[in-house]
Amino acid sequence: MKVIGFNGSPREGSNTGIMIEEILKGASEAGASTELFNLSAMNIAPCKACMHCKANEGECGTDDDMQIVYSQIRDADAFILGSPVYMWQMNAQAKLFTDRLFANFKTGFEEKYGQKSMALVFSQNNPDENMFKEYFYYTRNMFDFLGYNVVDMLTSTENSIPGEVKNKKEVMDQAREIGWELVKG
Ligand SMILES: Cc1cc2nc3c(=O)[nH]c(=O)nc-3n(C[C@H](O)[C@H](O)[C@H](O)COP(=O)(O)O)c2cc1C
Repeated sequence: MKVIGFNGSPREGSNTGIMIEEILKGASEAGASTELFNLSAMNIAPCKACMHCKANEGECGTDDDMQIVYSQIRDADAFILGSPVYMWQMNAQAKLFTDRLFANFKTGFEEKYGQKSMALVFSQNNPDENMFKEYFYYTRNMFDFLGYNVVDMLTSTENSIPGEVKNKKEVMDQAREIGWELVKG
């Protein structure tokens, strides 16, 4: 059992990263091996809409670090995508990752490699927990539609300073539970 995390935040000590790490800790306690990738440290280009993937059984024609991501997801049982909220949405790093998952869409990926479970993580500064809820659920539905089994979603508010989420026990506890959930189903 392998669970991996992808963090869209570019910040040192990012709250998003801390939440993902806590989920991975829960997954590790439940017996999984884990790994965390920082998307902003990776060279991931935008999707070129070349449709190479559709003619080549899901193989993306762009040779960059997304190739590492594809093989990591293929070999994992579950993954976590985390992003800070930038301008009411996921940030650019997370969106590049998401757009490039188009390569695996409707190309027999699930039949070949099995359905992957996933969890979504969002960190925001706005104190209103309902402010972006619609967007979070919209995004969750999109991943479900793409063929992933979105097991759960973790969100946290008022995280302007790196590391702030560590003081929010209920968020950290929920993160650990999600880690268990990803492993135990
Ligand atoms: C460019 C930019 C845009 C942002 N837009 C929003 C926003 O629309 N709503 C919000 O609540 N917070 C917004 N924030 C604040 C971040 O979402 C918040 O600080 C988040 O917790 C950062 O996560 P991190 O610590 O993982 O980097 C924005 C921050 C930046 C840098």
